[in-house]
Amino acid sequence: MKIVVTGANGQLGSDLVRELSGDFEVVPLTHEDIEIGDPESQRTVLSGIKPDVLINTAAFHNVPKCEEERDTAYRVNGYALKELGMLCNELGTYLIHISTDYVFDGSKGKPYVETDTPNPLNTYGISKLVGEIYIKNYSEDYAIVRVSGLYGLNPCRAKGGRNFVETMIYLAEQGKDIKVVDDQFITPTFTLDVARQMKIIVKNHIQGIIHCTNEGETNWYEFARAIFDISGVNARVFPRKTDPDREIKRPSYSVLENAVLKEKGINIMKHWKEALGEYLSLR
Ligand SMILES: NC(=O)c1ccc[n+]([C@@H]2O[C@H](COP(=O)([O-])OP(=O)(O)OC[C@H]3O[C@@H](n4cnc5c(N)ncnc54)[C@H](OP(=O)(O)O)[C@@H]3O)[C@@H](O)[C@H]2O)c1
Repeated sequence: MKIVVTGANGQLGSDLVRELSGDFEVVPLTHEDIEIGDPESQRTVLSGIKPDVLINTAAFHNVPKCEEERDTAYRVNGYALKELGMLCNELGTYLIHISTDYVFDGSKGKPYVETDTPNPLNTYGISKLVGEIYIKNYSEDYAIVRVSGLYGLNPCRAKGGRNFVETMIYLAEQGKDIKVVDDQFITPTFTLDVARQMKIIVKNHIQGIIHCTNEGETNWYEFARAIFDISGVNARVFPRKTDPDREIKRPSYSVLENAVLKEKGINIMKHWKEALGEYLSLR
């Protein structure tokens, strides 16, 4: 089975390539190899490879930049998925597209399941939902895998190279006072765990929307404290509130329940604290 991974040098992409390579033939594609926002580039590159599975991690997902460059956000995260879905139909490719917890507005206040109705608050979330809707309506064989709060051993390319964990440790080592919001609840998720779970999703050819995050929930402040507790790094870290006048709208609660994975008896995602411990031991 031949699997193409786009965004192959990103946080999630690089772990997918490493993890899937043991069991499958993996073709990694970076942004230099393919422009996912350009249907011509999609066609030229993918027709030559004819993958059995395409895992699309490529996205324009720096949240503030998405507000500034809305055309790019809608093209890469949204419109491009119509052509990608149709091209996959033509090639007989099972399309697995990575989406986000930011398709929800947070008003539910308890974990979102796959059947809950999205209502994104910012351009990034709206553009990702556009992509989801195109796939649902144009793709014949697909999975939309929603993840949240990713950190991985490879740097996050969209966020200046440092993930949240590394940013916290870096700031602590600079001796700075660190203020972190405690009013946004998420589930931080280790990309290596998503990659391990993805292997099972591919092998079982699961279709439809799938939530895939580590278990449990926390807020960013508590996550920062856990990073310092587990790593033993000394830090002066304080909670703060989101400033609605100065900051981009984000859901106050975007915890996802892996309901589909559990229903099928294949959920292997561990608790976020255990995942953080593994990450800190491997970095
Ligand atoms: N990071 C999070 O916390 C988070 C949370 C929820 C959902 N997600 C979703 O998870 C996925 C993976 O995120 P990640 O953190 O692994 O991202 P990442 O580290 O920023 O990697 C994204 C990869 O996509 C490539 N890429 C960007 N635009 C592209 C384009 N137009 N055409 C082709 N390739 C392109 C990037 O290459 P260049 O850097 O060279 O452009 C990079 O290799 C994304 O779909 C994102 O929306 C992420």
